[in-house]
Amino acid sequence: MWGGRFAAGPDAIMEAINASIDFDKRMARQDIEGSRAHAAMLAACGIITSSDGEAIREGLLTVLSEIEAGEFTFSKELEDIHMNVESRLKDLIGEPAGRLHTGRSRNDQVATDFKLWTRDQFDGAIDGLDALMGALLGQAEAGADIVMPGFTHLQVAQPVTWGHHMMAYVEMFARDKSRMQDARVRMNESPLGAAALAGTAYPIDRDMTAKALGFDRPSANSLDAVSDRDFALEFLSCASICATHLSRFAEELVIWSSAQFRFVVLSDRFSTGSSIMPQKKNPDAAELIRAKVGRINGSLVALLTIMKGLPLAYSKDMQEDKEQVFDAADSLMLALAAMTGMVGDMKPNVDSLRESAAMGFSTATDLADWLVRELGLPFRDAHHATGALVKMAEDKGCDLPELSLKEMQSAHPEINQSVYSVLGVDNSVASRASYGGTAPDQVREQVARWNGKLK
Ligand code: ARG
Repeated sequence: MWGGRFAAGPDAIMEAINASIDFDKRMARQDIEGSRAHAAMLAACGIITSSDGEAIREGLLTVLSEIEAGEFTFSKELEDIHMNVESRLKDLIGEPAGRLHTGRSRNDQVATDFKLWTRDQFDGAIDGLDALMGALLGQAEAGADIVMPGFTHLQVAQPVTWGHHMMAYVEMFARDKSRMQDARVRMNESPLGAAALAGTAYPIDRDMTAKALGFDRPSANSLDAVSDRDFALEFLSCASICATHLSRFAEELVIWSSAQFRFVVLSDRFSTGSSIMPQKKNPDAAELIRAKVGRINGSLVALLTIMKGLPLAYSKDMQEDKEQVFDAADSLMLALAAMTGMVGDMKPNVDSLRESAAMGFSTATDLADWLVRELGLPFRDAHHATGALVKMAEDKGCDLPELSLKEMQSAHPEINQSVYSVLGVDNSVASRASYGGTAPDQVREQVARWNGKLK
């Protein structure tokens, strides 16, 4: 393809470090789509004849069908997907194939292909997030009244509801979706026609190719167009944050499904057994989702490091961009799908959840609030009196509602029978009806709002 000024072919090691075909063949469809749009534009602008344009467009379809049928022989000597496709086109249609690369370079070509590929991943991740949010909403709706412990420092803090906990993740994954949508809007400019770096002297129509490829407009600076990989970095950033959320939830599922917690039963479909311990059922899917964030964060750091300090415009360093995004996208899609499956199948263990919700004096704040509300104590004094009662219950080895009224009154003489009405976990969650709070009715309102938004 560029042999004109060379007397010798590349060393085998040069070929090994230079070739990207082993991985960039994943962009074959995008490469052919981009070339078909470019050929149509060249013909429409009178830069090539319409019969050459047609021959190229038809020939490219044949190449695509060969690739899709697995009949295509990829060659390392031809370096990358762009030259593999063009070379096969030449075999198929002869001379007109040589006119395809008019007014174009591999630099704008690869930027275009990679953008098209990454754009599909944004769309795929957005769909995956919608499916996951749908599964979480199902859990939240069915479990709006299920009481469970809420934690801080992984110590029981206050009772919350299962539905509320599920909806916390809906909020997180909704932000991931919106981040992806934002990035997708920003990236949707066409590099095609920027050529090597400076634009071209041919009278090309960049609006036409941009439109044909579903871009909003051509990118406005040819140097930037061929050197920009922000879209890949943004995809990886969005993926890292999303994978972080997935790993937090995965960690909770690992803890919750343990024999010590027994908060949730994961389905057999998303668990594995042990080859030596017959009793075991392991939450492998959750553990692997928890781990995927490592690869995805690694990809982000790798590409940030590759791009750091690169002068304008294209440098071959940038060929190292694709594997990072391919691997991260594969990991993210799989993690989203596995989490969606697990969430759809899992069953909250209502009794264990309720039992633990009452542990650790989880309604102590309710007692302090009662002292403020009913007896007019300043919150700090109420906090102190409640602390004394917690200490008393701890010494007796009982929970707060099990203290007698007499014992209660030792902390403050005006405490009366009605204090018991706030001490149960159901009373506690029902009372937290502030906007965004854990009360079942609040949760149901949020579920309805999100159901409306996602439809
Ligand atoms: N395989 C190359 C890549 O992935 C295509 C662009 C090559 N451009 C060049 N000037 N050598 O980046």
